[in-house]
Amino acid sequence: MKRVLITGGAGFLGSHLCDRFIKEGYHVIAMDNLITGDIRNIEHLFKLPNFEFYHHDVSKFIHVPGELDYILHFASPASPIDYLKIPIQTLKVGSLGIHNCLGLARVKKARVLIASTSEIYGDPTVHPQPEEYWGNVNPVGPRGVYDEAKRFQEAMTMAYHTYHGLETRIVRIFNTYGPRMRLNDGRVLPAFIGQALRGEDLTVFGDGSQTRSFCYVDDLVEGIYRLLLSDYAYPVNIGNPSEITIKEFGEEIIKLTGTTQKLVLKDLPKDDPKQRQPDITKAKAILDWEPKVSRSEGLRITYDYFKSLPEEELYHAAYHREFEKK
Ligand SMILES: NC(=O)c1ccc[n+]([C@@H]2O[C@H](COP(=O)([O-])OP(=O)(O)OC[C@H]3O[C@@H](n4cnc5c(N)ncnc54)[C@H](O)[C@@H]3O)[C@@H](O)[C@H]2O)c1
Repeated sequence: MKRVLITGGAGFLGSHLCDRFIKEGYHVIAMDNLITGDIRNIEHLFKLPNFEFYHHDVSKFIHVPGELDYILHFASPASPIDYLKIPIQTLKVGSLGIHNCLGLARVKKARVLIASTSEIYGDPTVHPQPEEYWGNVNPVGPRGVYDEAKRFQEAMTMAYHTYHGLETRIVRIFNTYGPRMRLNDGRVLPAFIGQALRGEDLTVFGDGSQTRSFCYVDDLVEGIYRLLLSDYAYPVNIGNPSEITIKEFGEEIIKLTGTTQKLVLKDLPKDDPKQRQPDITKAKAILDWEPKVSRSEGLRITYDYFKSLPEEELYHAAYHREFEKK
């Protein structure tokens, strides 16, 4: 049985990866310090003999007994609310954390795949963004703690590949959504759905003309799985090229949820990217991958998930956002 370590395994994406690798017959070790994750995302796996959970901070020394075939480094705060609240931890997990993972991989002779992000393109001047584009990032702006941590993480991973000959893979993930996102994480989709469920107006930052492209989580996981098993060491974009303005997206959520509320405009945060759309030519050619789940189908599943949550979580989310403003 092949053994895989998934850091950030109790998070949104990490937990879906745990499910996938369990389904594929792997022994899965999830490692997470639960700083933004939730143990409930993986508790259904605890009864399985081929699943283990380590409650541990990846930025500290990592020890995992036994062999490892693969390490997937997904530990990192990922939403603006989270990384602005814990900027130093974000920088540490993207630097010390990946260093620990790469060191462990060398000892175990394991292949490493890292979760990078479309944020490494910053506020892009090239559209859609191909992997060859180097980005337009403000290192000292509020988002710099996340964007630069991820850029450093890519550089460190590539250095281990070229200098030590380590087998490495880099996935640049574009906005992904699905069940197990947190209602209070500040990302646009849970924010809109949370507001609709609470009967509040939906907040659009700026005039809503900025664009995003949303990928359903199962499509992303399929792309990551294929990339891991491929022999391609350079970055690959995985995301859904179907682009939509935030205003149109808000209107879709109003229709989906049947809310009678409306969109309200607020000031755009500093350095908010104006456009985002992955160029997935490489993923198509190398991995024979493209997204399959339409936005209407993915949104329906995600909405059903949010509706099934206990009601108090809706209000915890509202409280959390008020708190963040202070
Ligand atoms: N969801 C997206 O759309 C998206 C887009 C681009 C990149 N990513 C990347 O994918 C990864 C997962 O994102 P997510 O959306 O699942 O976020 P998430 O917050 O749900 O998951 C991150 C997990 O990492 C854990 N973690 C953070 N710091 C840690 C540390 N020092 N030690 C151990 N565990 C730690 C958290 O507790 C959490 O469980 C991140 O690296 C993120 O940058 C996500």
